[in-house]
Amino acid sequence: MAFSACSMLKLITMVSMALLLLLLPYVHGQGLTVGFYNNTCPNAESLVQQAVAKAFANDSTVAPGLIRLFFHDCFVRGCDGSVLLDSNSTNSAEKDGPPNNPSLHGFEVIDSAKSAVEAACNATVSCADIVAFAARDAAALAGNITWAVPSGRRDGSVSIANETLANLPPSNFNASQLIQNFANKNLTLDEMVTLSGAHSIGVAHCGVITNGRIYNFSGNASAFDPTLSSSYADLLRNKCPSNSTLSTPITVGLDIITPNVLDNRYYTGLQLNLALMTSDQALMTNVNTSAEVNSNANNQTAWVEKFKKAMVRMGNIEVLTGTQGEIRKNCRVVNSGSGIGLVVDSIVSHEY
Ligand code: HEM
Ligand SMILES: *[C@@H]1O[C@H](CO)[C@@H](O)[C@H](O)[C@H]1NC(C)=O
Ligand SMILES: *[C@@H]1O[C@H](CO)[C@@H](O)[C@H](O)[C@H]1NC(C)=O
Ligand SMILES: *[C@@H]1O[C@H](CO)[C@@H](O)[C@H](O)[C@H]1NC(C)=O
Ligand SMILES: *[C@@H]1O[C@H](CO)[C@@H](O)[C@H](O)[C@H]1NC(C)=O
Ligand SMILES: *[C@@H]1O[C@H](CO)[C@@H](O)[C@H](O)[C@H]1NC(C)=O
Ligand SMILES: *[C@@H]1O[C@H](CO)[C@@H](O)[C@H](O)[C@H]1NC(C)=O
Ligand SMILES: *[C@@H]1O[C@H](CO)[C@@H](O)[C@H](O)[C@H]1NC(C)=O
Ligand SMILES: *[C@@H]1O[C@H](CO)[C@@H](O)[C@H](O)[C@H]1NC(C)=O
Ligand SMILES: *[C@@H]1O[C@H](CO)[C@@H](O)[C@H](O)[C@H]1NC(C)=O
Ligand SMILES: *[C@@H]1O[C@H](CO)[C@@H](O)[C@H](O)[C@H]1NC(C)=O
Ligand SMILES: *[C@@H]1O[C@H](CO)[C@@H](O)[C@H](O)[C@H]1NC(C)=O
Ligand SMILES: *[C@@H]1O[C@H](CO)[C@@H](O)[C@H](O)[C@H]1NC(C)=O
Repeated sequence: MAFSACSMLKLITMVSMALLLLLLPYVHGQGLTVGFYNNTCPNAESLVQQAVAKAFANDSTVAPGLIRLFFHDCFVRGCDGSVLLDSNSTNSAEKDGPPNNPSLHGFEVIDSAKSAVEAACNATVSCADIVAFAARDAAALAGNITWAVPSGRRDGSVSIANETLANLPPSNFNASQLIQNFANKNLTLDEMVTLSGAHSIGVAHCGVITNGRIYNFSGNASAFDPTLSSSYADLLRNKCPSNSTLSTPITVGLDIITPNVLDNRYYTGLQLNLALMTSDQALMTNVNTSAEVNSNANNQTAWVEKFKKAMVRMGNIEVLTGTQGEIRKNCRVVNSGSGIGLVVDSIVSHEY
């Protein structure tokens, strides 16, 4: 009798410990969950999808813009919506860092998605999650590629222009620098090559390729990079004057084969010396990266499967969860510091 009561107690203790362990991730908010807003804002993901679809119907360049926005958010202070914050009198924000200004775009799409979501569910859905959902929706529109997006990110309140240069890879990086840059975010060589497939859509400004790619190769003003097809170099030189800067408003496609479809043809372009940027062609210069390029070029299905997983992994970089950060009301500004927003937010997150 005593023995069995004791075992019962032990059992109850074990069961409650197990329950506690199961609940811990939610209590401490570690990790993201697919369908995080199922109960608190069931239409969140479809409202974002509608905003992206509407913007895409008007201007299909929002698709590459939104996918790049997600990358640039995640690589600087994690996927915390910091890329969305506007500069103000006391702070120069990420969006005004050289890798982002003036080329990064799609902010208006995030604003319209946020308005729709706020109208449906007050102060519930983070800007960081909206960016992650919008990138997925953009991939669906541009390449019929979709995946379940783990969510539950919270918004950061710090955005520093200088941090873009230190974290985002520039277009003149070689293969080992690219591998190291992604390793700094705990992403593998294969994930780096796979995610570079996002360059299957969208454009670069002429200023990205003028110095060292289509002109001034190795400091010779009239030389172009010999790893670039010479007929393609001629074509690019016709579009891009040698004095182009990052703010010269002329752009060229990143994938010459299927410029508007998110697919594996970007990798075919690399095999044919048709990459636009130094960093793209660099993937052919290392035995390990070129092996992945070739395997992605050979099998669209295999690349798509890896791309979905890699986008989820990128979306996990240094996320804020639980009671960390805040749910911004306006994606462009941090909430005003009354603390009321924080209290409301922590009550919301404790419903889980
Ligand atoms: C591997 C290292 C990478 C480098 C060096 C790099 C660099 C660049 C540069 C310089 C541009 C041109 C921006 C402009 O002048 O308009 C660009 C465009 C773009 N990048 Fe990357 N990127 C990299 C990885 C990625 C990743 C991981 C993604 C997303 C998963 C991504 C998505 C895009 C997209 C979609 C565009 C086109 C943007 C548009 O059309 O507005 N890139 N990238
Ligand atoms: C939300 O609903 C979807 C679809 O029914 C399900 O796959 C997901 O696991 C749910 N997530 C949560 C946290 O309830
Ligand atoms: C449509 O796209 C253009 C740019 O191509 C943009 O200036 C305009 O604001 C967009 N309109 C709407 C309603 O989104
Ligand atoms: C400027 O923006 C930063 C965040 O990006 C914020 O912390 C700060 O309070 C803002 N300052 C003003 C004067 O609005
Ligand atoms: C939304 O929530 C804020 C507090 O976070 C509150 O001040 C505001 O009145 C709410 N708006 C609506 C429409 O419920
Ligand atoms: C989109 O992909 C799905 C499954 O991945 C497939 O069933 C469908 O036919 C595709 N649609 C188009 C238009 O290619
Ligand atoms: C940003 O970086 C530049 C060059 O590295 C430096 O001159 C400047 O002081 C930095 N600004 C801040 C706010 O750290
Ligand atoms: C890549 O660039 C770094 C920095 O310039 C250099 O040290 C390294 O040797 C280069 N690697 C290759 C394989 O060219
Ligand atoms: C990478 O993983 C290490 C070890 O788990 C962790 O300390 C670090 O914060 C991670 N870095 C990023 C950018 O996620
Ligand atoms: C050409 O390249 C050299 C070094 O490679 C560099 O010092 C110079 O500034 C470049 N010229 C232009 C016009 O960008
Ligand atoms: C510079 O490049 C041009 C074009 O490729 C070539 O004709 C010329 O010989 C090069 N000059 C030097 C000093 O290497
Ligand atoms: C670049 O050069 C062209 C002539 O080739 C000239 O018309 C243009 O004004 C120059 N632009 C800049 C920014 O210097
Ligand atoms: C392509 O990759 C898929 C998924 O990894 C695999 O099932 C399929 O066998 C591959 N096809 C070829 C022709 O290798």
